This record gives sequence, structure tokens and C-alpha cells, in this order.
Amino acid sequence: MLVLGIESSCDETALALVRDGALVDAVLASQADIHALFGGVVPELASREHLRYMGALFDELMRRQNLSPAGIDCVAVSRGPGLLGSLLVGTAFAKGLALGTGCRVVGVNHLMAHLLACGLGQELSFPAIGLLVSGGHTSLYCFRDEVTAEALGRTIDDAAGEAFDKSGKILGLSYPGGRLLDELAKMGTPDPALFPRPYLDNANLDFSFSGLKTAAALAARDRLCGLSWPRPLERTEDAPKELCDLCASFNLAVAETLLAKTRRAFARHPEAKTLLLAGGVAANSLVRAAFQRFMAQMRGRLLVPSPALCTDNAAMVAYAGWVYASRGLGHDLAFETVPRGRAVPDDMVLAEGRAGPAPC
Ligand code: KG4
Ligand code: ZN
Repeated sequence: MLVLGIESSCDETALALVRDGALVDAVLASQADIHALFGGVVPELASREHLRYMGALFDELMRRQNLSPAGIDCVAVSRGPGLLGSLLVGTAFAKGLALGTGCRVVGVNHLMAHLLACGLGQELSFPAIGLLVSGGHTSLYCFRDEVTAEALGRTIDDAAGEAFDKSGKILGLSYPGGRLLDELAKMGTPDPALFPRPYLDNANLDFSFSGLKTAAALAARDRLCGLSWPRPLERTEDAPKELCDLCASFNLAVAETLLAKTRRAFARHPEAKTLLLAGGVAANSLVRAAFQRFMAQMRGRLLVPSPALCTDNAAMVAYAGWVYASRGLGHDLAFETVPRGRAVPDDMVLAEGRAGPAPC
């Protein structure tokens, strides 16, 4: 089964093809440079850029694979959560394609797509704990199988990626700050006492990262006073050692906080022996290393996508679509697009064969 995946929930326009669970090809246009000018994603600009790129990227993918739209068995699209205007560009494109070719359509929960991406190139195993750490979400799940996940906890304020980006901004790093902060951290020495491990003194599996940006501002005032570097900082070479040390301490605080709540999730679900770790922050070198060590101690399996498949991409959407469609699941053309802040409904239906009205 050949599945086309479409991703447009934030600032990456991406399409990918997955055949029988294996990635065939992918195209992506990032808007990061445009939004960096404003220090964050501008929703109106994002949807306009998606509209500008979507058709051209689709044509490019078809041309590269010598395919026509009729060769696609299923189109899977990120239906949310995300920026509504951006999501609408992807879902409208997917629905148009399904209507035109009669192929099946699946509206994919973007968060589940991140986590299922762990199955690209490696076999998934269940039951599993899922930790999604992205720019908009930090959530823990218990997966019974690929399609059944129970939410265990989530952030009550900022997501981990948001903490990286907001602290990056305070430190004068170019937007989004997460990746550069990680690079600077590799050159620094962490002080384990500099930052708190927030929101651990409770019995739940929720997170709270909003206090870390205030802590970053205070630490910068105390430790970086009198130092200067080009703002926004783009190159690691221009960073003073003290900034690298601060980034290393920040990285450690985030990684240890994520680890503490994940350890708690495993303690409450001893049947789970696998961790699915995904989302943009799963590209972080220290987070990856810390969870690698932790799962080795647990004698369990860590499944984490390659760094390029941790941040937003369409391969994860196509793969999730393949998981659902190969179980006969899909949507009719009326499925809704879900903005950030609203739960994605569990409304897939059994849809045998190709769906949508056949072309006249
Ligand atoms: O999953 P993603 O691409 O988009 C959302 O669905 O939100 O995640 C983007 C987030 C951004 O906050 C970005 O700064 C962060 O992932 N990120 C990182 C790294 N690479 C991307 N954070 C820390 N270390 C990294 N290496
Ligand atoms: Zn994402």
C-alpha cells in the first residue's frame, strides 16, 4: 500500500511517501528563516507559505518517483493539533486529492504521528510508554498497541521545546533556540545546581517548564553579566564559554526532569518494556543519551527516530497513515481539522478499500 503523508501543522510544509511501512521519498520546505525574523511563528504567514509550497512540493515528489496521483492508495494528513490556518491548507489538499482520485483519506493526530515515527526502520513493541517532547507538547502515554494509547500526563504550561526556545531568546540565540542551545551545551560544563528540576514534588505525571525560562533569565543576569556576543547568535564559534556552561546546565535540567517523570510512568506501568521517545526535543543529544542509559538500566528498548525524523516531517504522517489504513481505518471527507488546545477526536471508521466518491 502506497501512502502519501502531508504535514503542515506549524512551519514546515512536508510531503512523503511510505510503501508498506517503509519510507520511499520525502520533500520538505522549512519556513524557519522567515519566522526567525519575527522571533516566533507568525500563523498568518505560515498558512500563506504552506499554500505557496504545497502544490509545487507534491509535483516534485510525483516527478521524482515517476508517479501519478492515481498511484496513491491512501493520503494521510496531519489534522491537528496545530495552527488552524496551516492545518487547513494540508487537510484541504488531502481531501481534494482523495476526492479527485478516490483514494482513502486518514486524518492523523500529529502527536501520535510523532510517536509512531519510532517504527520507521525498526520494529515497534508493546506495551510501551510514549514520551512526546515537542515545541507545543510534552506528554506521556501508555500504548497498548499502535492504535491504543492512554494519556498519562502532559505539561500544565510551557512544553519542553517552548522552554528551549523562550530561554534561547532570553540568551540571545537565533530562533528556534533548541538546536543551537544543544550545540552550545556540548561545548560547556554543566552545573547541576544552577537550575531547578521543576514540578517533581507531586505524585502526578504532568510537567511544568514555564519556571525554567525565569530561572534562565536570572542565571544569565548572574553569570553572563558583562559578557557580549552577536545577537541573535547563529554560530557556536561566537559564544563565550560561560554561555556554553549555562546552556549545558539548562540542558541537564530539562533532561533530568523528563527522565524523572518517565521513570515514574514505568513504575506505574511495569508491563511496559519499551519507550517511544519522539518530537523535536528528542533530537537533543543529552536527552537521547540520558534515555539510552536509562532504558539500558531498565533492560528495556528505547525507540527514538533519527534526529531528522524527530522534528516535524511528513514521513511520520505517512507512516502513521499506513499503520491505520493497513488496519482498515480511515475517515470520510467530512473529518474535522483540530486547532491547538482541543483534543483530537477518536473518530476513525473502518473503511475498506479506497474511499471518497469515485471521479466522474
Ligand atoms: O516536533 P517539532 O518539530 O514541532 C512541534 O510539533 O512542536 O518540535 C520543535 C521543537 C522546537 O521547540 C525546537 O527548538 C526543538 O523542538 N528542538 C530541540 C532540538 N531540535 C529541535 N530542542 C532541543 N534540542 C534540540 N537538538
Ligand atoms: Zn510536531
